Amino acid sequence: MTASATAAERPTVTAFDPEAVRRDFPALHQEIHGHPLAFLDNAASSQRPRQVIEEIARFDSNDYANIHRGVHELSQRATAAYEGARDKVVRFINANDRKEIIFTRGTTDSINLVASSFARPVLNLGDEIIVTTMEHHSNIVPWQMICRERGAVIRVAPINDRGELEIEEFEKLLNPRTKLVAMVHVSNALGTINPVKRAIDAAHAKGVPVLLDGAQAIPHLRVDVQDLDVDFYAFSAHKMFGPTGVGVLYGKQALLESMPPYQGGGDMISVVTFEKTFYNGLPAKFEAGTPNITGVVGLGAAIDYLEQLDWGAVTAYEADLLDYGTELLEKIPGVKIIGTAEEKASVLSFLIDGIHPHDVGTILDRNGVAVRAGHHCAQPVMQRFSIPATTRASLAFYNNRDDIDALDRAIRNTIEVFS
Ligand code: ALA
Repeated sequence: MTASATAAERPTVTAFDPEAVRRDFPALHQEIHGHPLAFLDNAASSQRPRQVIEEIARFDSNDYANIHRGVHELSQRATAAYEGARDKVVRFINANDRKEIIFTRGTTDSINLVASSFARPVLNLGDEIIVTTMEHHSNIVPWQMICRERGAVIRVAPINDRGELEIEEFEKLLNPRTKLVAMVHVSNALGTINPVKRAIDAAHAKGVPVLLDGAQAIPHLRVDVQDLDVDFYAFSAHKMFGPTGVGVLYGKQALLESMPPYQGGGDMISVVTFEKTFYNGLPAKFEAGTPNITGVVGLGAAIDYLEQLDWGAVTAYEADLLDYGTELLEKIPGVKIIGTAEEKASVLSFLIDGIHPHDVGTILDRNGVAVRAGHHCAQPVMQRFSIPATTRASLAFYNNRDDIDALDRAIRNTIEVFS
């Protein structure tokens, strides 16, 4: 293409071509039990593109060594790759400074870090932490453990029959005893996108910091932590097309500076004597021990992959796919969708009359359709709807209408088998 080519002569470059994207994910191109795989278990863990797989292999083959410790070339290269990934996360979520990005084992670890290092020192007898009914266990249990220890209590903001947060009820719970709000950004069990900006503004008006569990938001929405003005944001690499065992805690610098270390060990210190230890500055203060170096590099590669997509187009495509799936499932007699929020992302949780979700999941698998069946680590959601479990199809941008059609056929086949 010459520089003088007219607009009409130039090839159409679309930054998001679902079929081209699909070709990047090797695991999608296989048969399961004689059917083309329809991978609809992305909320549990998404697949990785070859760009991530290859970068991990390249790093491990050429540049791997421990970080921050060696004067030798490989350690320098590994350190540069690890710290380079931190810079990528800063840009990806629009943090203000690299000191605000802590690498952890994943969302659960990030939340436990905040429970231990932020909540433990500030909670006193009778203080409160607000969560919502739709939290994942990882955004309930750490608060229960710390509240029990400190004599504090958890208050729960309710959800309506569509699975939406009752925001006015949430706002009423904020009071002078509230020390933290811990809320999911996008529900893993229902797909609900919470009105987090309004919740953060309401909490801040009462001087209360907010932690968002962003595990399910980060693969579907562009997150800007400064625009949200959120105090802590937690997410995992393995739900955003990267490796397992690694994640991020974003925290506002002033808050992180004020918090004691989470764990003691190597890298988080500056001077150690038996009399006294001086801690390292951010972010090392919260990264004790040799971290998941390769995982962090893989997370950086996943961010590179996501950054080259046109997110306006991705979001529109995913919304269309969700609408298509919703319409198909609503037409099947005996199928009921759980979670019908106005603002929703990429989750189809459903029940089939008279058939246990685990049986549904098993027959779907025989049809090549991978879904999750169970309580999705969100038992209070199941209790809210008085159900033991759901079958959950969760989408990613590499899914297409063929996957949804396969789900539709497999559900109809399940109903036939049981009739
Ligand atoms: N939290 C993951 C899920 O929703 C495992 O499936």
